[in-house]
Amino acid sequence: MRTQLEKIKSEVKEALNKVKSLEEVNELKVKYLGKKGELTQVLRGMGQLVPEERPIIGQLANEIRDELNKVLDEQVKKIKKIEQEQKLNLETIDVTLPGKQFLKGTKHPLSLVIEEAKQIFMGLGFQIAEGPEIETDYYNFEALNLPKDHPARDMQDTFYITSDVVLRTHTSPVQVRSMESLTPEVPVKIICPGKVYRKDDDATHSPMFHQIEGLVIDMGIRMSDLKGVLLAFVQQMFGPDRKIRFRPSYFPFTEPSAEVDVSCGICKGDGCKACSYTGWLEILGSGMVHPNVLKYGGYDPTKVKGFAFGMGVERIAMLKYNINDMRLFFENDIRFLRQF
Ligand code: DAH
Repeated sequence: MRTQLEKIKSEVKEALNKVKSLEEVNELKVKYLGKKGELTQVLRGMGQLVPEERPIIGQLANEIRDELNKVLDEQVKKIKKIEQEQKLNLETIDVTLPGKQFLKGTKHPLSLVIEEAKQIFMGLGFQIAEGPEIETDYYNFEALNLPKDHPARDMQDTFYITSDVVLRTHTSPVQVRSMESLTPEVPVKIICPGKVYRKDDDATHSPMFHQIEGLVIDMGIRMSDLKGVLLAFVQQMFGPDRKIRFRPSYFPFTEPSAEVDVSCGICKGDGCKACSYTGWLEILGSGMVHPNVLKYGGYDPTKVKGFAFGMGVERIAMLKYNINDMRLFFENDIRFLRQF
């Protein structure tokens, strides 16, 4: 048995000198060391040996198996190295080939509008405020002069989390939150861009959308200040030739209240399909802050006055980029998003 083992050892070593490929090494491995390999067969026959010989032959067999495994592995490494070197010698790199292009994303049109609006308002001296998207009934309605059972709550029917906690229906709650954090200091001069939620869903309404709220409180603030700020904003956002007009309206948190239209950019105010032949497009709600809201915010309405406005970001973006369906903003269609 000893000679058998030695024979196997020298056979393998000899064969190894001739092999050139990884497959051949593998074949050798199977032939001698595999389940049915020659060395394995010899080991199986050990039972026939006299007991004293078993450990001696067993040890020898193990040594030979380990040694063969080692030389086979070395051979594998050698072959791999040779193959790699051959590859390197064959491959030439053409540095003049065009590189791999990385796809660069674009900013979402709503982000673009929000960023631009922030820049415009910061240029007018406004600071950026923030508030929670999950809001209490108190800030979302009550402190905005919308008591429980007020019919105007209907227009903003929303997602209730508990009877007193809602997904905010507008960014207006940030008005009272900002006043609370600043009172009694003036001026308060903030805008708040953010997400809001309502249960509408069609081509011009999405259950989640964005608004930008604005609030100014100071001594002697007048409606002409509101007009000046909004005209500056509209002309920077849409172009210096645009006009604005105020239409009387109603919001519980402003008195008087006005809806603001911008002159149609397509027909320049003459009337066309885009503006339903009126020459004007509605862009926001606004007004003078209601005395009750000033009180809720901790200010004395006999001493200070304020104006506020709230605009829908999607609407501004639709007008700015001529987009006719709000759902496009949220479908993540790359063909749409690439255009900005
Ligand atoms: N919060 C109102 C809405 O979502 C918009 C609004 C109107 C905001 C008038 C204001 C405002 O600040 O003064 O419909």
